[in-house]
Amino acid sequence: MPPVTADLVLKNVLLPTGRSADIVIAGGVVRHVGGAVRADEAIDCSSLTCLPAAVDMHVHMRGGVQAEKEDWRTGTESAVAGGVTVVVDQPNTIPPLTTPDLLCARIREAEAHAVCGFAVNAGVTTDADLEGMRNAGAMAFGEIFAAPSSYGEGLDPETLERLLARIHAMGGLATVHAEEVAGPAPATLAEHDRARSGAGEARAVRAVRALAPGGMRLHFCHMSTAASVEAARGTVEATPHHLFLSRDMFAEDDARARVNPPLRDEVTRRGLWSCWERIDIVASDHAPHTLREKELPFEDAPSGVPGVETMVPLLMAAVRRGDIPLASVIEKTSWRPAAILGIRRAGFLPGDRADFALYPDAVTRIDAGSLHAKCGWSPFEGLDAIFPEEVVVRGRRTYAGGELLEAHPAWYPGQGYLSL
Ligand code: DOR
Ligand code: ZN
Repeated sequence: MPPVTADLVLKNVLLPTGRSADIVIAGGVVRHVGGAVRADEAIDCSSLTCLPAAVDMHVHMRGGVQAEKEDWRTGTESAVAGGVTVVVDQPNTIPPLTTPDLLCARIREAEAHAVCGFAVNAGVTTDADLEGMRNAGAMAFGEIFAAPSSYGEGLDPETLERLLARIHAMGGLATVHAEEVAGPAPATLAEHDRARSGAGEARAVRAVRALAPGGMRLHFCHMSTAASVEAARGTVEATPHHLFLSRDMFAEDDARARVNPPLRDEVTRRGLWSCWERIDIVASDHAPHTLREKELPFEDAPSGVPGVETMVPLLMAAVRRGDIPLASVIEKTSWRPAAILGIRRAGFLPGDRADFALYPDAVTRIDAGSLHAKCGWSPFEGLDAIFPEEVVVRGRRTYAGGELLEAHPAWYPGQGYLSL
């Protein structure tokens, strides 16, 4: 039965089944799908595509001493403006998140400033208190650096094996940054691609597989080539930058396109799309740096690109072109990440989390000037995208017409959380 009072009704939503229905929301979840009900607020969705909002399993929200690059407020505003309502923060902060106290302080920082849902992962280093952080509510472990990257030191194989065994013993999810690094400091995008090659990435994936206990929950972050995707076991993540950008699209010394793993050539980029079905999730690896840092000589510029706001919009434009099915976007940006993390999924059934993003039909071009991240630039400038018109977080209208209406922060603890 529909509830007597609803907080919000999404009217005339076209469901995946092809039926059109009203979605009745109360207390942050879907209560009823069907006919009309009186509500405090209603949104007519008849000219919009209603998607369960995305869970971005891989973001670097910065903040703290890195707040010049991004902070929880701007990073989550950027997320919401791109149809993402839960972000999973990576632990390579300064200092890295290696103790329950640091993890709790990070969660408090997020609670004070985030405008949407968030979770925080535990850092995996030799002296990290992995068990303590799991009990304190860490979502997952890592990204675990199997090679050095920006703000992350690579672990040697023996240490990695030991730490993976500890994570497995707790039933935890290990999320791995698998790369191999060779040669001198690169001065161009092509040299960077060679120094952290696709072949090296696939070898690193196989090496991590060999070190991980059988049956462990493994997740491979940002796989950049078809061979790496094929080498992986467990779940596979791909990023919008490896799917939509190649190094051939940039001047050879443009450090804005410097990211780990590197952008590959055009042939390799297309090869990654050929694995679309095997790719479990798309996550942005939102890793903003200031333009001032990115304009340093290539050798000195940090690796990483912003992307949380443009991820689903780029995919929606690909759907519009007929390149991929809409259902695969819902799976890879919302339902699979929620299932992997063990959080309630957003969706169209009673009991589902009421997080939605409403997309128009019109395709626009990405213009960094209208994005919400603090860094003010995007590697995707000029690409086709469809941005959401409205975003609902936990049943509340949170974002509409380019503006944030209200903040709705919510912490998602991991499955090992002991709420004493
Ligand atoms: O390019 C990257 N930047 N890759 C990473 O693994 C880390 C990230 C960052 O934190 O800047
Ligand atoms: Zn990474």
